[in-house]
Amino acid sequence: MSKTVKVFACASVGNMSVGFDVLGCALNEPGDIVEMTFTEGSEVRIVEITGDDGKLPKELMKNTAGIAVAKMLKHLNIEPGIDIKLHKQMPIGSGLGSSAASAAAAVYALNKLLSEPLTPIELVKFAMEGEKFASGAAHADNVAPAILGGIILIRKYEPLDVISLPVPQNLHITVVHPDLVISTKEARSILPDSFERIDYIKQSAALASFVQALHTNDFNLLSESVVDHLAEPYRKSLINGFDAAKQAALNAGALSFGISGSGPSVFSFSSSLETAQQVGQAISDSFAHLNINSEIYAGKINQNGPKLIVE
Ligand code: HSE
Repeated sequence: MSKTVKVFACASVGNMSVGFDVLGCALNEPGDIVEMTFTEGSEVRIVEITGDDGKLPKELMKNTAGIAVAKMLKHLNIEPGIDIKLHKQMPIGSGLGSSAASAAAAVYALNKLLSEPLTPIELVKFAMEGEKFASGAAHADNVAPAILGGIILIRKYEPLDVISLPVPQNLHITVVHPDLVISTKEARSILPDSFERIDYIKQSAALASFVQALHTNDFNLLSESVVDHLAEPYRKSLINGFDAAKQAALNAGALSFGISGSGPSVFSFSSSLETAQQVGQAISDSFAHLNINSEIYAGKINQNGPKLIVE
């Protein structure tokens, strides 16, 4: 037998400023492609990685996609031979959930290959194993939206449970990836273990308000709610030109501005595609003043999750 499946899984914005480790949303682009084929043997191998400039290891247990696949097969108690090809189509260390996109595409492809023994939320758990390896913590705010699509609230980690939040029809998102690299592990290590009570109060109020804003299509409330009193004060110093980029985004009409995941990518919400594109250009121009190149993505939130390319 040599059945092959090919799956695209998207980038995601973890935290969305207001929900550290508990909120994330899916983007339409960029993303990664995983191709998986049954072989006659009983070994799982990553046989090819493209688009990574040689940065990613092919050893199964050192690769987020490989780890997720290995854990899933162990759980299912089966030992099929599988060849995996990973095509990276997004930057690594970008704050766009690059490791999550690979793991999400891999578990989704494996589930398809095996005729779907697991539910999407079960797939999230195995993809999280890859995140644990990549960042030192099994956070789900990138893998859950990459697998489920939309805006996802991680309601509980033990056991994992998520809520798919409503996505207002005119909500647009801009993500700008400046040409800087930040490792999530490092960006997590600079955060304190505990926070001031006042910041906890402000952050919980903001998160609750954000959920209300999504339910009521209230963009004014959304604009006031997308704030980060926890991670941003520590992490913004890792992003050269953060404050100027924020000002540029808000001047161009953005509803909000913050760090995507652990950075260096930044993101804004807008109420139209035109504004989202202008905001992208304004942020990019602001980075360009510091001689930092950047890539812009602007569009709607991806509500479909991974895409099966070939079956
Ligand atoms: N929630 C994670 C963090 C996202 O902020 O460390 C990493 O993309």
